[in-house]
Amino acid sequence: MHDPAALRAKHLARFGTEPAVFVAPGRVNLIGEHTDYAEGFVMPAAIDFATLAGISPRSDGKIVLYAENFSEERTFNATALPAKASKHWSDYPLGVVAILAGEGQRIPGFSLTLWGDVPLASGLSSSASVEVATLLAVTSLIGVNYPGPVVARLCQRAENEFVGANCGIMDQFISANGAENNALLLDCRDLSFKLAPIPPGVALVIANTMVKHSVAGGEYTSRRAQVEEAAAVIARHRPEVRFLRDATLDDLARWGGEMSPNALKRARHVISENLRTVAAADALIHHDLDELGRLMAEAHLSYSRDFEASCVEADAMVALAQGLPGLIGARLTGGGFGGCTINLVEREHAAAFSEELSARYATETGIVPQILICHASSGAHKINQ
Ligand code: GLA
Repeated sequence: MHDPAALRAKHLARFGTEPAVFVAPGRVNLIGEHTDYAEGFVMPAAIDFATLAGISPRSDGKIVLYAENFSEERTFNATALPAKASKHWSDYPLGVVAILAGEGQRIPGFSLTLWGDVPLASGLSSSASVEVATLLAVTSLIGVNYPGPVVARLCQRAENEFVGANCGIMDQFISANGAENNALLLDCRDLSFKLAPIPPGVALVIANTMVKHSVAGGEYTSRRAQVEEAAAVIARHRPEVRFLRDATLDDLARWGGEMSPNALKRARHVISENLRTVAAADALIHHDLDELGRLMAEAHLSYSRDFEASCVEADAMVALAQGLPGLIGARLTGGGFGGCTINLVEREHAAAFSEELSARYATETGIVPQILICHASSGAHKINQ
């Protein structure tokens, strides 16, 4: 799958210098959707699809970015970086460089080769993996070593402030801090986390509906605004509530009538999702896979009905998985409005499950899905020669 030697060779052939190579994974979220920016809980795992970044210094003060996936090169001046995004793949590495410069880091000239196999616009955080791989590469060049949670914050800022997507911290955090064979129960308030081991007999089967998803799109932003509206209404009565993380279903029963009907539904999803996510980590830690599956099913319904972030295809993909041998739980993962479902499946059944799900989905929707059988991988790191 990843081939650091091939990336190294491409970089050497193009730029004439050996690169240092870094890898940063994409992610799948097992449960906890649209809770991160409400300072709540999420439970993602890093996956074995990733971005590789090769970097070497230049003496001409230029930043030359090359994306192998697009066979395209862009050149910038290290001391006169663009101030704004241009809706181009280079926004992600440039955003990281701009945030580092804003932190007072002196940015030298460099050549950067990027390659990745995280499916794009599929809700698997290809953008976070590009940001984190770039940040590790550039900081190693300038001799700075940020702790994982700081890497995540800086990359989230690149996405919020430069790219212009109003995402939370989950994707960048898990890409930077993932742990092999584990999901992470992350508290997005203080970034503390607990490992939730995924049993060796359980596969992460990711089923791509092939409906394109985007965090920069209007739906993600409008959901976030509705979540914030709900928190503001509760805060009028309980000023200590700053985010929905602080609110309860009881608060909604008392003051939900003061919210717009949509804000009330979104809040019901977020508040109940936080409870489910903590319970799901507990179920995973105690090997209660039936309970985990039940919570995932409930989470999907809540995401689809109350948060209205699903789509016909994703609802079909989840429904078609039901009853297939080996299924533990299935739900739409990521920012919503398309993208992928996550299916926890007993590993011995994973191949047959994928084939049957693919066939059922193609018959029902006329779309051939992409199915990835993954395991939880480690977070971003340098690849030694
Ligand atoms: C996207 C965002 C995350 C998070 C999820 C929804 O992946 O980048 O910050 O909000 O959607 O859970």
